Order: sequence, then C-alpha cells, then structure tokens
Amino acid sequence: MGIRIRGTGSYLPEKILSNFDLEAMVDTSDEWIRTRTGIAERHLAAPEQATSDLAYAAAERALAMAGIDGAELDAIVVATITPDHVFPSTGCILQRRLGAAGAFCFDLEAACSGLLYSLEVAYSLMKVSSAKYRNVLVVGAEKLSSIVNWEDRSTCVLFGDGAGAVVLSNDGTDSPDFLVCSDLHADGNYSDILIMPAGGSRCPASEESIRNHAHSIHMEGRDVYKLAVTGMVGACRTVLKNAKVAASEVRCFIPHQANSRIIDAIAQRLDVPGDRVYCNIDRCGNTSAASIGICLDEIVRGGQVSEGDYILLTAFGGGLTWGAMLIRR
Ligand code: ACO
Repeated sequence: MGIRIRGTGSYLPEKILSNFDLEAMVDTSDEWIRTRTGIAERHLAAPEQATSDLAYAAAERALAMAGIDGAELDAIVVATITPDHVFPSTGCILQRRLGAAGAFCFDLEAACSGLLYSLEVAYSLMKVSSAKYRNVLVVGAEKLSSIVNWEDRSTCVLFGDGAGAVVLSNDGTDSPDFLVCSDLHADGNYSDILIMPAGGSRCPASEESIRNHAHSIHMEGRDVYKLAVTGMVGACRTVLKNAKVAASEVRCFIPHQANSRIIDAIAQRLDVPGDRVYCNIDRCGNTSAASIGICLDEIVRGGQVSEGDYILLTAFGGGLTWGAMLIRR
C-alpha cells in the first residue's frame, strides 16, 4: 500500500537559554548540567507563543517538503503534554491555522513517547482505511517552559521548547511501508514518579496548588533513569528481533533526548556504533514529545539517511510510557 514519510519539519524558538543563564537563576553550574545530562543550551518559546504556534511552524515545513496543502490532510494528531488549553485540542487549533477543513483532529498524551504513540495510531488508521486516510499529519510539540518550576534546579535545567512534524502519505504503490516494526508499552504503576500534580480534575487550580508549585513537572530523576534504560533497551531489542534486523544494519538511531548518559548506555547495550547515534540534546535539551520529530527532521534535511535506510526510534516518558519503532526512510 506504500504508507511513506512524505515530509518532515521542525521548529525551534529563537530564544536560547544557556547553562550560564541558568547559573544566574538557580544554584547550578554549566559543569554539573553538561556532565550529568549533556545539555548546554535549550530553546524557549516567547511568552506570546503557545504550543500550537510551534506546531504550526513545524507542520508548514513538513507540508512544504511533502508538496501538499493543509486542505489535503485527512487527519491531524498532535502529541503534547503542554496543549494550548485543556480543550479544545491543540489539533483543532492547528487545523484552523493550516486550513485543513477536511481533517479530523485530536491530541494524544503519552509524554515523551507521544510521537511514537501518534505514529502508531496514524499508521493504523491509514492501514485500516487507505481510501479515507491518504495524508495524515503527526506533530510532536511542547512548550515545556510553561510547566517548569524555574526555582527547582533538579528539573528546570532539563527541558526546552520546540516541535517536530511528519506528513504520512499513502502513495498508492506497493512500495514498503515506512513502519517496519514497533513495540509500545505503558505502566501506570509508576504514574507518580513523573507527574504534573495539579491542573486536572484530581487537583484543580487553587491558591494552594500554585503556592506548592503543583502546576509544574515533578520527577524522581534516579528512578526514571533506571527504568528508562531498561525499558528502551528492551523495546529496541524486541523490535530488531521481530524485524530480523541487526543493530549494525540501522543507519541512524534516534533515542529520546532526555540525558546523554541514558543515550550512551542504551547505544552501548544495543551495540549501535557511536557514529550512528543522533543527538541534539546539547542544543535542545529534553523537548518531550517534540524530541524525536525534531531529530528526524534534522537527519532528513541533513542528508544523513537515504531512501530505504533503517532508522530506529525509541522513547520513554511519564505514564510511564515507552517503546521503540523501526522505520525506513
Ligand atoms: N545543579 C547542581 N546540582 C544538582 C542539580 C543541578 N541542576 N540538580 C540536582 N543536583 C544535585 C542533587 O541535589 C543531588 O545532590 P545531593 O547528592 O547533595 O543530594 C545531586 O545533584 C545528585 O542528584 P541526582 O538526582 O542523583 O542526579 P542524577 O545523576 O540522577 O541526575 C537527572 C539527575 C539528570 C535528572 C537524571 O536522574 C535523569 O536524567 N533522569 C531521567 C530523566 C528522564 O529520562 N526523564 C524522562 C522524560 S521527562 C518527561 O516525560 C516529561
């Protein structure tokens, strides 16, 4: 049926916040942040920019590469934990901006695994009904700076803003689909170790919730770290085994950009050569659902993959959610 990646796009806001800037804000150092996480700087959205604005910029670039208009889209999926509003969905706001009147739209919340989850859902829709879903836009977009506690040094140094987009199209040929194999998971038993406690129905906004910084990211970093490595390595192994593809055949490995030590540990355990591992964490920090889409666009535009090359994606995030996906360019 030929469900292919027809276009990719990404957007990083102009403003850059360096580790040195953070030194002036909390008790931290460039040296601590670099050695513990690999991050040197991150992009921050302007106050007037919302997640849909970042998503729109990335989507426009992906549509331009695909050579199609918003009006030709049949569905829009936006992966995000920082929607413009609780409702309406960021997908609907994006639809209006893109003039995608024929698309049905929704947001998907799976934290940092959001793009993988969204690609799986979009692919499944296209597989089930190829005539109905010819072009589907998947965007991972986050304004994490809006849910960071800028007084908490253990989290505020980690996150950044940005968006990555993918246009999937059914080219009507019998060329192989972009998705070779996937392995996605969730475990709600760990929902408390990576959470924004307030702002939902469990704890609506109140003076107390604001005083307690409950509208920001809370994370048990060490526990998340261990589970992230085990989860992503396991999912990648499953995918490679089921696809009968050796790690050495993977042209480019894109792990979620949360921590360069996590990335190194996974690549080492999977035996992926260092020069095949893509990293932009030094420039972008952790952009949650946007991270993999931004990396994918950078390797496509940078000419680092050719048609037919295998790309291995893996992610891990709040929920907990995690997984891996082997795709082909
Ligand atoms: N600057 C200086 N010191 C700091 C900072 C900072 N920014 N942050 C923490 N420290 C201190 C701590 O207070 C602690 O001091 P202590 O030993 O005196 O108590 C010390 O540094 C070590 O702290 P740890 O938390 O043990 O540091 P660790 O090496 O584990 O690194 C980190 C922390 C970077 C958060 C790491 O645990 C990590 O990357 N975890 C995984 C994150 C992740 O994958 N998240 C998933 C996605 S996020 C999402 O879904 C939204």
